[in-house]
Amino acid sequence: MTAGTVAVAGGAGFIAGAIARKLAEAAGARVRVLSRDPERARSRFKGRGVEFVRADVLDTASLRAALKGVQAVIDAVQFEGYPIEDPRRGLTFERIDYGGAISLLQAAQTAGTLTKFVYISGAGADENSAHPAFRAKGRAERAIRESGIRFTIFRPSLVYGPGSRVIELLVKSLSWTPVFMVPGSGRQRLQPVFVGDLAAAVSLALEGCGDGGTFQIGGPEAMTFDEFIRLLMEITGRRRALLHAPQSALHLLGVAAESLPVGRRVFSRDAVEFLTADSVCDNGPLLREFKLSLTPPRQGLSYLAARSA
Ligand SMILES: NC(=O)c1ccc[n+]([C@@H]2O[C@H](COP(=O)([O-])OP(=O)(O)OC[C@H]3O[C@@H](n4cnc5c(N)ncnc54)[C@H](OP(=O)(O)O)[C@@H]3O)[C@@H](O)[C@H]2O)c1
Repeated sequence: MTAGTVAVAGGAGFIAGAIARKLAEAAGARVRVLSRDPERARSRFKGRGVEFVRADVLDTASLRAALKGVQAVIDAVQFEGYPIEDPRRGLTFERIDYGGAISLLQAAQTAGTLTKFVYISGAGADENSAHPAFRAKGRAERAIRESGIRFTIFRPSLVYGPGSRVIELLVKSLSWTPVFMVPGSGRQRLQPVFVGDLAAAVSLALEGCGDGGTFQIGGPEAMTFDEFIRLLMEITGRRRALLHAPQSALHLLGVAAESLPVGRRVFSRDAVEFLTADSVCDNGPLLREFKLSLTPPRQGLSYLAARSA
């Protein structure tokens, strides 16, 4: 592991929390979690040996102060409510994901002590994509590659594990409703990856694995969205009929939500595209470089069975 201080940007977040825990377990580095609300992040953190510092990727001064003396930065920041952008509240992929990565990178470079930058990108990242999420990730990746700083970029498929907002929502929906509404055909393909495996890969990246590389990271099994929901049903013992919401109907909902003149945006057409896109990974380069053993989904999701027992 990189000696010195590692800053994990992403505060009380799902992936940042798992990474901070993993790094805190390893000897040799001090872990500094950056959060807009460090006390709240501390209260949610299930682990020890980590310091919490206030920083907002929209506030350069806060980043500069928080990144003083850091040797490595991990960027796992995302705006609340994603993948539904809310431009009226400034919550867009362009502003938080791309802009935030640039601000973090620049502030870290200004600190003068930075030796490694790790970016949590996403499967499908592509600076030429018409979709704002994939485009912002792709643009951030390019800026990192061209920064001259040592880096490793990870492009995860759906990440699951204790604390995942997405899994919580899916499991809650399974308990609340007699049928489960699947976005689109249900044939979109996922490769769910256990958050502990992603955290392990990040920890290895800080030891020098995958320097200068961009790695897709999915679980060991690709499956359709329907198959993933059926697996969740089997594990939690909540069997429901699957209904498929046609993409065209979801689009209309998106249009309606986007045209509401006030309030939080609760849905969008881009969110429909995001939810119905394939998200599969070629794990080959990752496995060759990091020698990781990826957790099978049935094993990684077993915490849900223990909870529903
Ligand atoms: N979850 C997945 O399945 C998945 C899959 C592929 C890629 N990813 C990527 O992985 C990264 C982390 O995702 P996640 O699921 O862990 O998200 P998350 O649980 O929503 O956490 C994101 C964190 O970002 C922090 N944040 C938000 N706005 C900020 C700002 N202006 N300045 C500083 N920090 C800010 C928040 O922490 P505070 O409130 O404490 O500041 C928040 O908890 C994202 O880039 C996401 O796109 C996630």
